[in-house]
Amino acid sequence: MAVKLDTVVPFGRSFDEYVKMFNLTQIELQQPILSVADGPASFNAEGTRLGYHIKSVDPLYCFNAIQIKQRFDAVVDDIIGQVENSLDDWVWSYHRSPNELRKNREAAIKLFCDDFEQGKTAGRYEVGELPQLNYPEAAYSLGLCSHFLFLYSEQFDQTFHLDSICELLRVCREVRVFPLLNLALNPSPHLDLVITPLTSMGYQCDVQSVVYEFQRHSNKMLKITKEP
Ligand SMILES: C[S@@+](CC[C@H](N)C(=O)[O-])C[C@H]1O[C@@H](n2cnc3c(N)ncnc32)[C@H](O)[C@@H]1O
Repeated sequence: MAVKLDTVVPFGRSFDEYVKMFNLTQIELQQPILSVADGPASFNAEGTRLGYHIKSVDPLYCFNAIQIKQRFDAVVDDIIGQVENSLDDWVWSYHRSPNELRKNREAAIKLFCDDFEQGKTAGRYEVGELPQLNYPEAAYSLGLCSHFLFLYSEQFDQTFHLDSICELLRVCREVRVFPLLNLALNPSPHLDLVITPLTSMGYQCDVQSVVYEFQRHSNKMLKITKEP
């Protein structure tokens, strides 16, 4: 399905935020990583500079860097305004104020945009969307999904979530998803409905605490591995 740019909120997180959201160790970072729904995060740009092998996938990548940045510029004031009107919904330890949040998101999208065209040519950014990925089985050691699954629980149903995670598990030997709350800061209604069938299929599902908490009470990550 073609993505419409005027429906996307292209806010992206940094490499440091990804490390903290997913409890990534140096050893894990050395593995081939597939990062889905990466949007304008700077995880790939910064990680590549550090020598890691990361592929980012997002339907947004059918647009060019200028178009994605224009969309960011069009929505950033409104998003930061919404955050300012709901200060207690957020934990101000990582980003210390709405202004600092804005600066951090601007820094991330700049790193992303500066890297995007060359990264696309190198195959590090590819157009694609869940619940179907165009990669062979077990092509990646680790699959990451930040701020898409579970967060948009009202927009995407349980079947979409289960199909998407099964597809990630087909392509990646281990999958991590963060956060587990929806946009209203409530636990996603899909979480248990996804964990139960995955466990029956022989996967181990662990909900782990992480040090990153920006949405209040949103410091849990789902880690899914195949039991030996
Ligand atoms: C809130 S952004 C998260 C960006 C990044 N992962 C981060 O945490 O900074 C959500 C992203 O999901 C992408 N998206 C929307 N539908 C998708 C789908 N079906 N499959 C994969 N990504 C999708 C959007 O284009 C957008 O870039």
